[in-house]
Amino acid sequence: MLTEEIQQIRKESDKDFSSVEDVRKLEELRIKYLSRNGLLAQLFDGLKDVPKEEKPSVGKDLNELRKSLTEKYNSLKSSLDDKADQSKDEIDLTLPGTKRVIGSKHIIIQTLDEIKSIFKGMGFSVFEGPELESDYNNFGALNFPHDHPARDMQDTFFVSKDFLLRTHTSPVQVRIMNKYKPPVRAIMPGLAYRNEAINARSYCVFHQVEGLYVDTDVTFAELKGTLVSFAKQFYMDDLKYRFRPSFFPFTEPSAEMDITCFICKGQGCKICKKTGWLEILGCGMVDPNVFKNVGYDSEKYTGYAFGMGIERIALLKYGIDDIRRFFENDLRFLKQF
Ligand code: PHE
Repeated sequence: MLTEEIQQIRKESDKDFSSVEDVRKLEELRIKYLSRNGLLAQLFDGLKDVPKEEKPSVGKDLNELRKSLTEKYNSLKSSLDDKADQSKDEIDLTLPGTKRVIGSKHIIIQTLDEIKSIFKGMGFSVFEGPELESDYNNFGALNFPHDHPARDMQDTFFVSKDFLLRTHTSPVQVRIMNKYKPPVRAIMPGLAYRNEAINARSYCVFHQVEGLYVDTDVTFAELKGTLVSFAKQFYMDDLKYRFRPSFFPFTEPSAEMDITCFICKGQGCKICKKTGWLEILGCGMVDPNVFKNVGYDSEKYTGYAFGMGIERIALLKYGIDDIRRFFENDLRFLKQF
């Protein structure tokens, strides 16, 4: 009796296993035949009613059936699993591609690039210096004596007694003059740091572009001509300007350059604080004391220098109301440029 059942189940299972196409179907068969209450287990149960002398041969048949079913199951399982793995790696060429987000230059870098290209066109080369500077390069060599009140104009982040985060790009002038003999004509873009209260108009870090030209017979008229030419190229051709006397320890005479407010065309508005003028940079003739500090002969050479804040220039040019926007990296702001 049991022998017949074994035969029958062998046949049935042959048929069942030969038609398996997916893991779900295979799992059904595992439950049907091989699980704890499956057909195979039931057959083993029946073994106890088999007459003693037949037991060895029926038991052998049963063991063979179990072995063959288990083998079939295992081999199907592993080939179906392999297939599943492969299909994971397949590329569906009909899917639309993923769009790459391409970044763009920050508005400050764009502005810097524009300024650089204007000055390059006028024969200036570009130099850079470190943001961590010595007190000497940032102040001493630039004719700020120790305890001089002019140091208060620039609240400083000191790193140690003799080192600081540069408060302006002017120390790069010192580096260039220490390294090269005149003539030198260069602009020096970079970051500067000041320990100031943060608000819409000022921030603890900002970009500057420094300029320096030293040669025999460099005049204030040339300084004016160069800066006016720059401002006309950068802002607009029919721009009005003025130079106001000012003070910097490292230039003498010193001046600040204003241009007509292009928002109100000089009528007076909120941006120009009702004056009709906007200050765009500081400048002057290099002080002979600075030449002395870098070993240039101040009887033989003269030079001019200027420095402008880039955030301020971009703020004015694009009508931005808060300097902090430049550093927040909010994409909604940055994407507008
Ligand atoms: N370094 C000055 C500042 O940060 C600007 C300046 C540069 C003025 C060069 C004159 C000459 O305010």
